[in-house]
Amino acid sequence: MLKVAIVGASGGIGSAIVEQLVSHEQVSHIHATYHRSLAASSAGNIAGYGADTQVHWSKLDATDDEQVRLWLESVGQADWLINCVGMLHDAEHAPEKSIAAFSTEHFEKSMTINCLPTLLLGKYARAVLKDSPRAVFATISARVGSISDNRLGGWYSYRASKSALNMVLKCLAIEWSRNAKSVRVAALHPGTTDSRLSKPFQKNVPDGKLFSPEKTATLLIKQIEQLHERDSGSFLAYDGEEIPW
Ligand SMILES: NC(=O)c1ccc[n+]([C@@H]2O[C@H](COP(=O)([O-])OP(=O)(O)OC[C@H]3O[C@@H](n4cnc5c(N)ncnc54)[C@H](OP(=O)(O)O)[C@@H]3O)[C@@H](O)[C@H]2O)c1
Repeated sequence: MLKVAIVGASGGIGSAIVEQLVSHEQVSHIHATYHRSLAASSAGNIAGYGADTQVHWSKLDATDDEQVRLWLESVGQADWLINCVGMLHDAEHAPEKSIAAFSTEHFEKSMTINCLPTLLLGKYARAVLKDSPRAVFATISARVGSISDNRLGGWYSYRASKSALNMVLKCLAIEWSRNAKSVRVAALHPGTTDSRLSKPFQKNVPDGKLFSPEKTATLLIKQIEQLHERDSGSFLAYDGEEIPW
């Protein structure tokens, strides 16, 4: 049976993953984290499952080194560690249409939320994952973090923070290929998914290309289940397509 740790599990995609893993026949324990409020989040409806279904919720700021250390210490051992934390816009800032809209504050916040948690999780996760023969360390990235796939430009802060995240994942895959060989590291692109993050940008999404969080969760879980059939350190889309870095 699998023990799964999920960070950012109160978001649109994270909560849909938890909801599906709760009834996954191979999953026995889920350690899930929320950030600001569980009740007010997409995971509010699964918050009450509690001990019956082995979902252990913790409040975690994934950008805080000490909080990440203590949370992973409390998890102890896990087979999968999935990071669903992310930010594209906030009340003050939309993604930049041109460089004129760049703001240092938005850039720093994007880097902090989109990249730093994976560095901190990586710092403490080796001990948690290394004894599992099916270990996975996966972070939800975004296709727009691909440098070679960038044809539209714009979204400077988000793109740069996801490219930085991808580099971190590649470094972890290389390091752990030496000292935690069973861990498969992956950057996963979920496809455009109907969540708070994508809400303001959905009107130009072609028909059939806006996924429900449930559909995205099903597709991403399938990719995670198959990671041991692939090389560690890949950048994969929801359908298993390898995305160029
Ligand atoms: N939706 C899409 O179309 C799409 C496309 C490509 C990639 N992605 C990526 O998919 C991932 C999940 O996005 P989503 O669509 O599910 O967005 P979402 O619903 O906005 O979820 C984002 C989650 O990140 C959490 N978070 C933010 N700062 C945090 C922090 N410091 N510590 C811990 N948690 C924090 C949020 O919690 P609070 O709300 O409590 O702060 C929220 O639960 C992100 O990495 C995003 O970049 C999404």
